[in-house]
Amino acid sequence: MNKLRFGGHPIEIAPGSAPIATGAANAKADHCAQAEMRPAAPPLSRRFSVAPMMDCTDRHCRYFHRLLTRRALLYTEMLAANAVIHGDRARLLAHRPEEHPVALQLGGADPAPLAEAAAIGAAHGYVEINLNVGCPSGRVRDGCFGAALMAEPARVAACVAAMRSAVAVPVTVKCRTGIDNLDSEAHLIRFVETVAAAGATTFIVHARKAWLSGLSPKENREIPPLDYERVYRLKARFPELEIVINGGITSLDAARAHLAHVDGVMLGRAAYHDPWLLAGVDAAIYGAPQQSARKLSRSEVLRAMMRYAEEECARGEALHRITRHMLGLCRGRPGARTFRRILSEGACRPGAGPEVIAEALAAISRMRQVDADQAKAQQC
Ligand SMILES: Cc1cc2nc3c(=O)[nH]c(=O)nc-3n(C[C@H](O)[C@H](O)[C@H](O)COP(=O)(O)O)c2cc1C
Repeated sequence: MNKLRFGGHPIEIAPGSAPIATGAANAKADHCAQAEMRPAAPPLSRRFSVAPMMDCTDRHCRYFHRLLTRRALLYTEMLAANAVIHGDRARLLAHRPEEHPVALQLGGADPAPLAEAAAIGAAHGYVEINLNVGCPSGRVRDGCFGAALMAEPARVAACVAAMRSAVAVPVTVKCRTGIDNLDSEAHLIRFVETVAAAGATTFIVHARKAWLSGLSPKENREIPPLDYERVYRLKARFPELEIVINGGITSLDAARAHLAHVDGVMLGRAAYHDPWLLAGVDAAIYGAPQQSARKLSRSEVLRAMMRYAEEECARGEALHRITRHMLGLCRGRPGARTFRRILSEGACRPGAGPEVIAEALAAISRMRQVDADQAKAQQC
C-alpha cells in the first residue's frame, strides 16, 4: 500500500487502482481527486446504499457517486444471469476499483445459472451478489423473475442456496412487501423465513407491494402505498437478520429516522436526481469526522469528472453517457438550469469532450460570483 495525505490524514492507496489522468489546471483538485479516488475501499456496510436502477446506476454513475461518498454501498443495474453467462461479460461487468464497494444485482429464477453468474460476478470483484425479487417490469415478469418470485419462496431459497455455494461474498435479496393478492404480512414473514433458512441474512425491502398486472414499473414505484411499519416489524420479528428499508426516502434526516428501526437504508431516485445528497452521507450516516468525511466541493467533483471523462472519451466513450448522471449536481442552486442545459446540450455535440464539463463549471462559478456581488451590494 502507498500512502497519500488528504486533509491532514493518511490515506491508503489500493494497489492496482487505475491512475487518473491529470492535466487540469487546479492542483488542489488534482490532489484531492487523486487521493480521494484511490484510497483502499472501505469495509462493506449496508447502513446506506444507492439502489440498483436500470439505465441509471452504470459504471459512470457509480464513479460519480463515489466521488461524493466514500462509505455508501453502490449497486449495479440489474443484469440477467443469462446475459452475464452468455453475453459480453467484459463490458457488462466492467468497473473501476475506485467504485468499490459495489454489489452486483442479478435477475434470474433458476439456481444453476444464477450460481454461475454469481461466481462470474464475484470473480470480477463485486463485493456482494444481490438477487432481484422486486422488479415488476413486463420483461422481468415474463421471464418469471423479479417481483414475481415473491410468490415462490421455495424457489428463491433454492436460488440463494445455489448462489451461496458458488461464492464467498455475501448473497442478499431485494424484495417487495408483497405482490398482487399475496400481500399479507404473514406471506412476507413466510417468504423471509423460507429464504433465510437457505442462508440469506440480508433482505432489502422496498416497502410497498407491486401489482404485476395493471401497473407499469413506474406506477409500481409510486401508486402502491408505502408501509414502513411493516418493514420495522419484520426487523423486530427477525432481529438476527439485516433488514434494509427502501422506497420513498428523500433526505438524510429521513434516512436517520429509519435507522432507529432497521439496519440500513437504500435510496434510489432521490440519490440519482439530487446527487449532492450523497455528499452528506459519510458524516450524517457513518459519523465520519468532518475532516475525514469525503467532502469535495461541487467544483472539485466536476474537475475530477473532467479527468474521468478525458480518459473515458479517449477510449471511445460518448461524453453524454457520463454527463447524463451529473445533471442534478447543482439542483436547487443558482445556475442549476444553465448547468443542466450546458451539460445536456453540449455533451451531444459531435466530438464533445471534457471541455463541456469545464463550460458548465465556468457557468456555475460565474453565477456564484454574481450572487456574491449582489450580496455585497445589498450590505453596502
Ligand atoms: C429508473 C429505475 C430503474 C430501476 N431498476 C431497478 C433494478 O434494476 N433493480 C431493482 O431491484 N430495482 C430497480 N429499481 C427500483 C429501485 O431500486 C428502488 O427499489 C425504487 O426506486 C424505490 O426506491 P426510491 O423510492 O428510493 O427510488 C429501479 C428504479 C428506477 C427509478
